[in-house]
Amino acid sequence: MSKVIQLAILASGNGTNAQQISEYFADKPEVNVNVIIYNKRDAYVATRAEKLGIEARYFNRHSFYETDDVLTFLKSREIDYVILAGFLLLVPENLLAAFPNRIINIHPALLPKYGGKGMYGHNVHEAVVANHEKETGITIHIVDHRYDCGTTLFQARCEVLPADTADDVAAKIHLLEKEYFPRVIEAVVLNKPIPKQ
Ligand code: GAR
Repeated sequence: MSKVIQLAILASGNGTNAQQISEYFADKPEVNVNVIIYNKRDAYVATRAEKLGIEARYFNRHSFYETDDVLTFLKSREIDYVILAGFLLLVPENLLAAFPNRIINIHPALLPKYGGKGMYGHNVHEAVVANHEKETGITIHIVDHRYDCGTTLFQARCEVLPADTADDVAAKIHLLEKEYFPRVIEAVVLNKPIPKQ
């Protein structure tokens, strides 16, 4: 059997995507969620990781930007792909250089709309509602040195109704994330066709 693909998930907050990805791959022998890395001490994703039986490692901002600690750790685990699942720091250069085209992010909007610094999580859905958008969606993309840029791998859309609140939009987005993010990761890391919506 060929080498098992090792994933590291990076997350900053709640961790629903980290959990969904971990559960999806739990019974798939070709891909292993090796570790969940988080950068906020009180991030609920750490509790989720514990419940899932997946190791969680905390690294602070200083470790990411001023040291090679994260890179050294990822290398020690023989990580193949880094998955950003609600990770809010800009990925440092040393990681970008070590994982060319191997860092994947999900963004809760149809990029290039509603991307960039400060556009994350609920802020995005509030802006979508404030601008009376008729549709929104998710974008899964390769990460480069900018926020929310890099080659798009996949987009899925959903309708925004006139009466929808930001919470309503968030619920629709979470459904799309659950349905597609693990499957798109699987396709990319196993070099298979990326699913379509
Ligand atoms: C997700 O909706 C993800 O798309 C978004 O943060 C949320 C994290 O939720 N990511 C960004 O906004 C990145 N710019 P989770 O912690 O429950 O997975």
